[in-house]
Amino acid sequence: MQKEYRLPDITIESAQTADFPTIAQFHQEMFREIAREEGSPWSEETLSALPSAFLDYLVKQSSTQDTMIWCARHGQTLVACACLTVASWPPVPADLAARAGLIHTIYVHPEYRRRGIARQLLETVLEYCRARKVRRLQLGASKAGRHLYEKFGFAPSGSRMFVIL
Ligand SMILES: CC(C)(COP(=O)(O)OP(=O)(O)OC[C@H]1O[C@@H](n2cnc3c(N)ncnc32)[C@H](O)[C@@H]1OP(=O)(O)O)[C@@H](O)C(=O)NCCC(=O)NCCS
Repeated sequence: MQKEYRLPDITIESAQTADFPTIAQFHQEMFREIAREEGSPWSEETLSALPSAFLDYLVKQSSTQDTMIWCARHGQTLVACACLTVASWPPVPADLAARAGLIHTIYVHPEYRRRGIARQLLETVLEYCRARKVRRLQLGASKAGRHLYEKFGFAPSGSRMFVIL
C-alpha cells in the first residue's frame, strides 16, 4: 500500500550507462556516511579511490547479466540507487540452487530520505529475484538500513566470519 509521504513523481527504472558516474559517487557517499555514523576505519585515501574502482566494476558488470542496477529519479534527477549481483554459489540445505544474490549500494540522496524510496527500490530488487527464483540473498546492513531490511525479513547470520587478506 502506498504511504502518503511518497513523492508523487519518483520513477524506479534500470540505470543507464550515463548514470554510472553518479551511482559511483553514491557508492562512495554511502561508505562515507557509514564511516561518519559508525566510526568505520577506512582512510580518506581509500574512500577517494572508491568511485573510480566502482565505476570500473559497473562498466564491466553492465556487459554481463550478473549485475542489475536500478535508480530512482525525481524528474530527470537521479536521487537513489540499488544494485544486485547474482553469482555462482554452492548449494546449501536451505537452498539447493547454485547461485545467490548480493544486494549492495542502496543509497538515497539525503534530501529525498524518509519518503519510502529505499523501500520501493528494495521491493523492485526482491520482485526481480522472485521472478528469477534467486532465493538466497545477502547484504551488509548499515545502522540506517537495518530497520528497512528487517521489514523485508532479512536477519543477521550469526556464524558468518569475514576477512580481507
Ligand atoms: C538507509 C537509507 C537507504 C534509507 O533510505 P530511505 O529512502 O530514507 O528509506 P525509506 O524512506 O524507504 O524508509 C524505509 C524504512 O526505514 C526506516 N528508516 C529510514 N531511514 C532510517 C534511519 N536512518 N534509521 C532508522 N530507520 C530508518 C523508515 O522509517 C522506514 O520504516 P517504515 O516503513 O516503518 O516507516 C538511506 O538513509 C541512506 O541512503 N543512508 C546512507 C547509506 C546507507 O546506509 N545505505 C544502506 C547501506 S546497507
